[in-house]
Amino acid sequence: MSTKEAYSPGDQPFASEPVSPARMATSIRDLKKEYVLKSETVRALRGVSFDVPEGDYVAIMGPSGSGKSTLLNLLGCLDKPTAGSLMLGDDDISVLSDDELAEIRSERIGFVFQSYNLIQQLSVVENIEVPLYYQGKLGSSERERAILLAERVGLKDRLDHRPAQLSGGQQQRVAIARSLINDPYFILADEPTGNLDSVTTDEILEIFDEFNNEGRTIIMVTHEDDLADRAKRIIRLKDGMLALDAKVSEERRDETRQAQRLAVEELLAKTN
Ligand SMILES: Nc1ncnc2c1ncn2[C@@H]1O[C@H](COP(=O)(O)OP(=O)(O)OP(=O)(O)O)[C@@H](O)[C@H]1O
Ligand SMILES: [Mg+2]
Repeated sequence: MSTKEAYSPGDQPFASEPVSPARMATSIRDLKKEYVLKSETVRALRGVSFDVPEGDYVAIMGPSGSGKSTLLNLLGCLDKPTAGSLMLGDDDISVLSDDELAEIRSERIGFVFQSYNLIQQLSVVENIEVPLYYQGKLGSSERERAILLAERVGLKDRLDHRPAQLSGGQQQRVAIARSLINDPYFILADEPTGNLDSVTTDEILEIFDEFNNEGRTIIMVTHEDDLADRAKRIIRLKDGMLALDAKVSEERRDETRQAQRLAVEELLAKTN
């Protein structure tokens, strides 16, 4: 039996909840991005459309050069589309100026990168506060919120540590806490476990599961099938176009989670 069904935009992220129209974290329509070079024009995205309801958890996959980073850059307001529309919540991003885009980027998007991107001179708590700092919004209630988020990702006893005093997994936890400090439309994660071993990868994916279970929307680029199978939905790009948009069944997600947990336990038993 196939574990993947075609995704339709009307699908509710939580099947058991009362039916109300799903609010969209993002909606894109016929999105195109062309890079004009001297000798040629690269059509990196050639008309991609999909909706991401709030609370969804999407894995974006596809071969090298298929347009994943281009799409992520557009969703993250790091770049502007050549054509098509891009809504974040109720905001139409495609019509905004560069300054307005920068504002949305810093206030409403949570980024988690493969390389953590923490500031070495700052402590854990200060790193989590960085997005607020850029908005001049630092105060005692923000500090409390940063500490709470640090605790949520399991760094309660590391608040004053600097990045160099943390493991890779701990640094990525800081990045996840930082991504949530602004109450973002969604967490945009670009190969978030690419630099981590399998034990730490599982820990980070559990944190994603927890936040997603609370309703946080996650959009994650990954090359790994077994990471993608922990998401609720897989979007696959090919040659700048949407090649697949499929739901991952709960059954499949559970199996993947359990298989990974088992592999981690076996590994830990061997190394202890
Ligand atoms: N700034 C740019 N200028 C010109 N061409 C670009 C630029 N960025 C990306 N491209 C081209 O657009 C296409 C899509 O690139 P993109 O980086 O989105 O792929 P990707 O799916 O992220 O690949 P990978 O898995 O290797 O990271 C490629 O053909 C790439 O060469
Ligand atoms: Mg890429």
